Amino acid sequence: MPVDDLYQRHLDRIERDFGAALEASAQAGDPFRGLVIHAGPEFLYHRDDQPFPFRTDPHFARVLPQPGPGHLLHYCPQRGLRLFRVTPQDYWYESPARGGHPASKHLETLDFSSEEDALDALSDEVGLAFVGSDAEVADEVDAEVEPVVLMAWLDWSRGMKTDYEVHCLREAARRAAPGHAAVRDGAGAGLSERELHFEFLRATGELEVDLPYPTIIGWNEKAAVLHYQSKRSEAPRSRQSLLIDAGVSHWGYACDITRTWVQDSAPVEFVALREGVEALQRRLVDAVRPGLPYVDLHLRAHREVAELLVEVGVLRVGVDEALARGITIPFFPHGLGHHLGLQVHDVGGRQRDPGGTLLEPPEDHPHLRTTRTLDVGQVVTIEPGIYFIDLLIEELRGGKGGDAVNWTLVEELRGCGGIRIEDDVLVTPDGSEDLTRPLVPG
Ligand code: GLY
Ligand code: MN
Ligand code: MN
Repeated sequence: MPVDDLYQRHLDRIERDFGAALEASAQAGDPFRGLVIHAGPEFLYHRDDQPFPFRTDPHFARVLPQPGPGHLLHYCPQRGLRLFRVTPQDYWYESPARGGHPASKHLETLDFSSEEDALDALSDEVGLAFVGSDAEVADEVDAEVEPVVLMAWLDWSRGMKTDYEVHCLREAARRAAPGHAAVRDGAGAGLSERELHFEFLRATGELEVDLPYPTIIGWNEKAAVLHYQSKRSEAPRSRQSLLIDAGVSHWGYACDITRTWVQDSAPVEFVALREGVEALQRRLVDAVRPGLPYVDLHLRAHREVAELLVEVGVLRVGVDEALARGITIPFFPHGLGHHLGLQVHDVGGRQRDPGGTLLEPPEDHPHLRTTRTLDVGQVVTIEPGIYFIDLLIEELRGGKGGDAVNWTLVEELRGCGGIRIEDDVLVTPDGSEDLTRPLVPG
């Protein structure tokens, strides 16, 4: 189906979701006649005229990827959805363009030269809810900022992607693929973390400021830093492992992909662990299906991580004992994954229902971001890992795991940092479709 048609259907779905959210809010005793979504304000650094890199509010970006701050969207059931676009009359900066997006053909658009004028044009509207962070802007239209029930409905509805959104997620993966290939080749050629980062940008043609999250590219022990942000300019002389976690966005929708490459000098046990995590990740992706609580998949991942650690000889106790004593947690200290969309860690992952009842993660797994039951149209990441993290290893050694671990082997593996394999997976009526693996082979 042409992207224009996908987008029109996407807009239709958004209008239905907005209508349902307003109705649910009214039923909960908080009635509104319409809602206003603010693209967001520009923030300046303290005592400076330089702005923070601007990021559009994701509820706004769901409707269209209009660059720049200050725009407004208005929705009410009578008039539908309208864009109040702000194009400042200014000779310092260029007014950014939207880059071929179909919104201009499908969305009623009113143009203003300032945010004040756009807000004035809304001054006859009463009973508004406001989505956005800027309470002063909300005040200008006498709107209530982010009413709880309304927001819970909006967040929940973002969990089920439309075909347009899946198209954007696929495009994001397609655009990230050459970056991952270039980093893989660059790792083989012994480039530094900094050079590999530049390779990713060069091969994807992306500006760093447009990436959905900073690239994570770590040689050896730095692969153990979950969100490693530094970029060393020297490659290590002995190169054992390279972890890259990097994605790009398409029309606001992100991909989130991790690969771990081992080099010839890695110990055989580390090579076996990498192969084991890769196979485990494939099994977990295959297990994704509608109706499955994501928590079950996360707990299964821990069981299979325990099996692998026993098999390779890192653990000296059996699988059941390791799980009962929580010994896998320091080796796999993050959640199996998260919802993905306009935000890399997308909203609504811990909701039980559209009304906003929360589903907390198990007590021992506080970092699990998705506890929601999987349903058709959701997109989640599946990203198991095994790491040798100094802080957690020392705690384990001095605490509950002193007798359960082969410390000699852990010392040998520590220099390899860790392994994470991550793909983005669509829940389909029959099971799942891996959106990223066909484009970024393992
Ligand atoms: N790239 C961040 C994450 O995987 O959650
Ligand atoms: Mn992720
Ligand atoms: Mn990631």
